Amino acid sequence: MQIKTFNVYDNDNNAVRDAYEMLTAGLLINNNGRSKTFALLSCKPEEGKTSLAISLSISIARSGWRVLFVDADMRKPTAAKRLNAEAQLGLSDYLEGRGRLEEVISNTNIPNLTYLSCGTDCSNPIEKLCAVRFQKLFEQVKIEYDYIIFDTPALESVFDGAIVASKADATMLIVKAGFTSKKSLQRAKEQLHGINAKLIGIVLNKVKKRDYKRYYSSYNYFFNSNRFLKKAKKQFRSLNKGISKDTAKV
Ligand SMILES: Nc1ncnc2c1ncn2[C@@H]1O[C@H](COP(=O)(O)OP(=O)(O)OP(=O)(O)O)[C@@H](O)[C@H]1O
Ligand SMILES: [Mg+2]
Repeated sequence: MQIKTFNVYDNDNNAVRDAYEMLTAGLLINNNGRSKTFALLSCKPEEGKTSLAISLSISIARSGWRVLFVDADMRKPTAAKRLNAEAQLGLSDYLEGRGRLEEVISNTNIPNLTYLSCGTDCSNPIEKLCAVRFQKLFEQVKIEYDYIIFDTPALESVFDGAIVASKADATMLIVKAGFTSKKSLQRAKEQLHGINAKLIGIVLNKVKKRDYKRYYSSYNYFFNSNRFLKKAKKQFRSLNKGISKDTAKV
């Protein structure tokens, strides 16, 4: 393992933190240890995959599970920037045989959370993701970690996310509220179905504050306004229509 320990940013926003924790709880309860590798995908760029991948990894690690966060977006080293990481060995180096897994992963300041950066040579990502070593990586990380979260580039831009999803036990689609079109979601659903990816749920991200109402009582919890709930239900219904039986919502 590389010696450097990254300071993973912590989210001070209670509303956002609670939302991530609810998502984590939903994931852990529904998963029951069946799936270990998760691909986080979205149709278009900037829908919040990297943010969600990092926060979800932190949240699961805080529950005591051993988590590996893999930056499989070799097109854009956003995660590295968010983690204040400098160029270092990572996924691309592992895939090209420049290091064993234990030599390319890094510790973080969050207990139980390990980080695999995208690495130093991110050229030809599709070729790298199709390499036999990527398949081997899946086999190895499943032995050493409870949850492995893969960040990917947008599905409509490049094929990388689809390759990761085809190998992962489960896939989550991040949808930017009021932005991702039904047509894009339908295309994504068909693409994922075509490569046998197991879509377990959709995360509605970037929901406007006005659509969220906070209630304080003896417990703190979030209440979705009727308008938001209707919109969310409509998006879920249209996407889930026709999805194979093994698909469940997170
Ligand atoms: N729930 C949210 N609310 C508000 N802003 C958000 C939320 N999630 C992400 N963002 C912001 O949106 C921008 C894009 O987020 P992020 O980089 O996570 O998206 P991405 O899907 O990984 O993008 P790309 O496809 O380019 O890699 C960032 O500035 C991030 O801080
Ligand atoms: Mg990203």
